[in-house]
Amino acid sequence: MKVFITREISEKAIDLLKKEKFKVGIYKKDKPIPRKELIKKVKDADGIISLLTENFDKELINQISNCKIIANVAVGYDNIDTIYAKEKNIIVTNTPDVLTDSTADLTVALILACARRIPEGERMVRKRKFKGWKPKLLLGIELKDKTVGILGAGRIGTETAIRIKTFKTKIIYFDRERSDKLEKETDAEKVSLEDLLSKADIISVHLPLTKDTLHFLNKERLKLLKKSAILVNTSRGEIIDEQELIKILKKKKIFSAGFDVYENEPKINPALLKLNNVVLLPHIGSATEEARTGMALLAAKNVIEVLNGRKALTSVN
Ligand code: GLV
Repeated sequence: MKVFITREISEKAIDLLKKEKFKVGIYKKDKPIPRKELIKKVKDADGIISLLTENFDKELINQISNCKIIANVAVGYDNIDTIYAKEKNIIVTNTPDVLTDSTADLTVALILACARRIPEGERMVRKRKFKGWKPKLLLGIELKDKTVGILGAGRIGTETAIRIKTFKTKIIYFDRERSDKLEKETDAEKVSLEDLLSKADIISVHLPLTKDTLHFLNKERLKLLKKSAILVNTSRGEIIDEQELIKILKKKKIFSAGFDVYENEPKINPALLKLNNVVLLPHIGSATEEARTGMALLAAKNVIEVLNGRKALTSVN
């Protein structure tokens, strides 16, 4: 059986695949595999381990007639046409749970970075512009007694809420479903989307990207945010209308925004780079040794299960 991996991942995962006597091919360069090369490499693969940087659309899926599984090394799978894959009897899997804690940690870091203007302070020191303690230097926002709005009460949203609750905040959330876990662990209150957007001091976005959530935070909804609000996004950039958010940030209609993801990743809108009231991270939500090893291992285990005729562990289609 042939397995192709679109980028170098944890050796531990590769070892697992090799123990199964699979023939493992890996794209070794430290950049996304060019489309043409990808098509060539996956043509006769029985299993594929892919990253969110590869777009498995109909055209690509039509080229992989041997393939039984695409194991995405990410919890999000908006880069794969899962419905078409199913039509072609290809199982698609993701990597939930193993990255939840790391992503929730980073979300809290992003909230604190925005609230306390940490990157602005860092830039000031590096530029040798720190001239001593000042009563009004980089005044931020204290978290105590603030209302945190969790948009999307799934695994990562819930773990973020549990962490941020310990800063003596009040949690409200919006989701289609009620979340018993979130309510039980943080006394969270389920509210309407409009209430969440207009009442929260801090809003953290944890929605998956689907056709229903594309530009979920559009111009009208972004207008509801408080002038003192902090908005952070560690899910997918396309969920927020970035152009509209930039307009709001330029006019200082909210306090700040923290980005780990962008609408046209890895391209960054140049207007963002000019703003001081933003914190910009390079999509590192799950970037810990623990999470990335766990993700690679889970993807490899999914491939092993499926290529041995068993059920995938974390199928999404
Ligand atoms: C990363 O963004 C992921 O979906 O795992």
